[in-house]
Amino acid sequence: MKLTKATLKDVFEVQEFVGQQDGLVQHPVHFYNIMIRYFRNTFFIMRDENRIIGFVWGFVSQAEPDVLFLWQIGVAESHRGSGISHQMMEVFIEAARENNCRKVHATVETENIASCKLFEKMRFRNISSGNTLVENGRKAIMNYYGSGTNQVLYEYVVSN
Ligand SMILES: CC(C)(COP(=O)(O)OP(=O)(O)OC[C@H]1O[C@@H](n2cnc3c(N)ncnc32)[C@H](O)[C@@H]1OP(=O)(O)O)[C@@H](O)C(=O)NCCC(=O)NCCS
Repeated sequence: MKLTKATLKDVFEVQEFVGQQDGLVQHPVHFYNIMIRYFRNTFFIMRDENRIIGFVWGFVSQAEPDVLFLWQIGVAESHRGSGISHQMMEVFIEAARENNCRKVHATVETENIASCKLFEKMRFRNISSGNTLVENGRKAIMNYYGSGTNQVLYEYVVSN
């Protein structure tokens, strides 16, 4: 298994991989092209014998430059429960350090239990505040993105 930063050669395969994962929104191919073109320093892909089996990516916030926002993480169903998600998360947190970010943020829908558990195991704290409710046992921000879903806002504080 090999974890590398994404390159433009990966664009179509990444988009196809995302489409295969329940719980991830698949964006059009140009979206991944733009993200890999401009944010590849924080776009990581895990391969097993040349096949993508996981990825994690995000970007440094311009509004809050000390925040690295994690947009998506995914592991192929065949490889879930194998520790890959932890490995990728550690690399992503290291990327926060390299980019002088003190925090990593991520949002997760409350019904995505595997993701919530993953973030909590990695010592992310639920910092949801403001217009909140408790849903599926977790505090979440109501309609956070205006798309009708309630999101848990997680924060990881990066140590030196
Ligand atoms: C989220 C994801 C990356 C986690 O990877 P993983 O390899 O499954 O991670 P883990 O094996 O550490 O599982 C995390 C925890 O969730 C639990 N879990 C896994 N699937 C579950 C499910 N369907 N329902 C409830 N709990 C589940 C695991 O048992 C584990 O809990 P534990 O630590 O108490 O044992 C992976 O499930 C995935 O790719 N999901 C689809 C994409 C997605 O939703 N991404 C997140 C949104 S950005």
